[in-house]
Amino acid sequence: MTIPYPTQPSPMAFPAVRPPSGAPRPRLAFLGTGYLGATYAICFAELGYEVLGFDVDEVKIAKLAAGQVPFHEAGLDELLRANLASGRLRFTTSYAEVADFADVHFICVGTPQRADGMGADLTYVETSVSNLAKHLSRRALIVGKSTVPVGTAEWVEQLVAKHTDPALEVEVAWSPEFLQEGFAVEDVLRPNRIVVGVKTDWANGMLYAAHKGVFDLAATEDREVPLVVTDFATAELVKVAANAFLATKISFINAMAEVCEVAGGDVTQLSKAIGYDPRIGNRFLQAGVGFGGGCLPKDIRAFQARAQELGAGEALRFLHEVDLVNQRRRTRVIQLATELLGRLPGPAGPDLAGTRVAVLGAAFKPNSDDVRDSPSLAIAATLAKAGADVRVYDPQGMANARLAMPALHYEESMSAAVTGADLVCVLTEWAEFRNADPVTLGELAGARRVIDGRNCLDATLWARAGWEYRGMGRPNPSV
Ligand code: UGA
Repeated sequence: MTIPYPTQPSPMAFPAVRPPSGAPRPRLAFLGTGYLGATYAICFAELGYEVLGFDVDEVKIAKLAAGQVPFHEAGLDELLRANLASGRLRFTTSYAEVADFADVHFICVGTPQRADGMGADLTYVETSVSNLAKHLSRRALIVGKSTVPVGTAEWVEQLVAKHTDPALEVEVAWSPEFLQEGFAVEDVLRPNRIVVGVKTDWANGMLYAAHKGVFDLAATEDREVPLVVTDFATAELVKVAANAFLATKISFINAMAEVCEVAGGDVTQLSKAIGYDPRIGNRFLQAGVGFGGGCLPKDIRAFQARAQELGAGEALRFLHEVDLVNQRRRTRVIQLATELLGRLPGPAGPDLAGTRVAVLGAAFKPNSDDVRDSPSLAIAATLAKAGADVRVYDPQGMANARLAMPALHYEESMSAAVTGADLVCVLTEWAEFRNADPVTLGELAGARRVIDGRNCLDATLWARAGWEYRGMGRPNPSV
């Protein structure tokens, strides 16, 4: 059955709005060409829209315009080059050009954690919206996509009112995104839902037209994309609530791993068993070194900070525990390393001087070169601080890791990192590590000791190859 339109009834109409530019379909601009903005710009050009990507970073824009994606994301390079060639996709560093070109402006800039606390830093949102607004000379819709504290959309409306002529009737809407690194193209072209926070039928109509390509693609593939049309606050909250839920799910299973460690249980079996209950589900229930990346850690902190400001801090107090469980998993790897290397913990931390440790993985998850708040890299740094000679290898994340932690020692291959190591720590579950042959690696290593920080190795196979194996929340394998 073909479902051409979203079945989720909208409380508002989808008026057939005419793009103010006069183009047949709304022209789209994406401001901020980081992970989010670049992926959206490229994918929406692929869906047939005329797209302009904007960034203040000239180097990034020059790269994109030359057909190079500035980060690692499967499938994106080909799409970028194809859409540049089609003429539908362009990049610029000029606000004036963006204002002149687009009908719908998506704000995709970063909202990092503030240097002075847990809240989100909205500087980039403020700069991009204000500069864009100043250049607008006809009606347009400004749509926030960045992850922000609830209340930001109302503030953006005030910024727009301050910087534009009211006669232009520039409007604001909010539409959070849910893309995951490593699956970004799929997540944008085939999202599992679209959420829009709008105040008027015109904004709703423009946003519908701006997403029609997504609905049309779904219809040709006999799929449905649920659409939730809501108010600003709910749209903003949906995003942080979703990330808070995912972080909680991961910390929940990691808390179970802690209990398994003292009770002699196996968290991988436990996770499988509870995951068969469809109310629980088995996804995001992988115990290990915990969550990292540019989103989950900062989002749960910013969410707590905002709830506190609003007087609902108590409601999110559990997120503090979620964060603590997550951090404790990193400490657990250090404990295991100390134990395996036969060292004593010591009041000022363990002394690992004279040991060599291979750290396999620097990215916060596989199929990404992103090392922001990466558990692997944080653990590597702690091991090095304890005196170990740490050798890091990652299939894609080396360049970013070198920038983030220049003092660590990097190797160009898994074999080079493992050669002569007294301990191997697998901290990001890249296929290259999961499929590595323990016999071959055993011949290279100085001693056969392995910490499986992601429970991604076949424990029995490694133990049979003579490795002393330690997982996260699982008993040691008996051979
Ligand atoms: C996350 C959300 O999953 C996206 O839906 C959201 O759009 C995005 O943040 C965002 O806010 O932009 P992402 O940061 O790409 O996406 O990474 P995830 O796949 O969520 O993984 C986060 C971390 O959790 C990784 O370090 C991963 O290794 C870890 N993880 C994940 C686990 O430790 N266990 C699991 O079972 C799953």
